[in-house]
Amino acid sequence: MAEIEETQWTPPQGNSSQFGAERPNTITSNGPSNADDVTPNTGASVLDKETMGDRQESLSEWQRNVGIDTSKQVKIVKVAHMRYQHPDLPTITKFMKDFGMHIATETEDRIWFRGYGDDQYVYYAQKGAEKKFLGGCFAVESYEDLEKAAKIPGAGQIEEMKDAPGGGYLIVVNDPEGFPVNLMYGQEPAPRGELPQKIIQNTEVEKPRVRKFNRFTPGPAAVHKLGHYGYTVQKFDEQVEFYTRNFNLVPTDFMYVPTEDGKTKDVATFMHIDRGDDPVDHHTLFMATNPTTHVHHCSFEVHDFDTQQLGHQWLAKQNYTSVWGVGRHILGSQIFDYWWDTTGNMIEHYADGDLVNKDTPIGWSAAGDEGLAVWGPEVPKWFLN
Ligand SMILES: [Fe+2]
Repeated sequence: MAEIEETQWTPPQGNSSQFGAERPNTITSNGPSNADDVTPNTGASVLDKETMGDRQESLSEWQRNVGIDTSKQVKIVKVAHMRYQHPDLPTITKFMKDFGMHIATETEDRIWFRGYGDDQYVYYAQKGAEKKFLGGCFAVESYEDLEKAAKIPGAGQIEEMKDAPGGGYLIVVNDPEGFPVNLMYGQEPAPRGELPQKIIQNTEVEKPRVRKFNRFTPGPAAVHKLGHYGYTVQKFDEQVEFYTRNFNLVPTDFMYVPTEDGKTKDVATFMHIDRGDDPVDHHTLFMATNPTTHVHHCSFEVHDFDTQQLGHQWLAKQNYTSVWGVGRHILGSQIFDYWWDTTGNMIEHYADGDLVNKDTPIGWSAAGDEGLAVWGPEVPKWFLN
């Protein structure tokens, strides 16, 4: 250990202004000139009906208007896992472990990764010559729902998942732009892993944490479950129609741009799984209009804000490439953190997302980069490309 050099510190003589004379001046801000104009920041948990942007419509009203018959839909229970093909399994495995997943089962050319939730696995990786997006996988209510899905144009056949942990049956349906939609039934639930401890927070008045010190262990942000995924699309209206008509997926929010005739056009949407009164994640699938069609990212839930930061630091230390984060989204409210995996797919950690149900009205807000986050690093210009 280096020896600490002992120096004699002499308290400054004279008055405080003289003592501060050699300190750098505060750089003048470009903000409001009068400090009285600046309002301190606040946070609040606001009712969904009060935050839905410029326009809102009830879900049932919207479904009626677009003529959706919900009795004909394939009923999704939840989003369960993502499916990707990677050319290099050992490298993606190292990344996934650093991202907070662990291996449930593996064969020579396939790996099932799990989190600590009750899903057998949250990410399926198979080896292949090229990088390929194989779609998200939704668990459906019954085997009959798989049979219903088999009748959707572009559907494959129902197949038993013999090697996958928990078993079950799978069918793949292709959407209008060729994204595979996997639907699964009959997977045995896995025993839930141990939940991380809820950290006790002290605030100005409420200070429940007495003689307890918050301590953290550096490491990956353990993944709980898959939360959502999404695409950039070219046939936005057709895609919205496909998902909302065939499945119990419903829009939570639309984003629009102005059109030349003074009206507006919807260009992006966040959709949730309609489970009636039951609270569900603000979005499970999202789509944004783009000149090209490609998967944008998939996102996995982690415990809390500290876990996000620790996870970010861990991934940064391993020299992976950060995309954007840590920050706080506006629509969905999640604390987000986006990364590139080693194959070149975007993947996100999120925590503290909004929940909605059938009584949450659909909201409309203007599209724009500034609407993506309330705080966080600058949005990379190409984020929505
Ligand atoms: Fe996301």
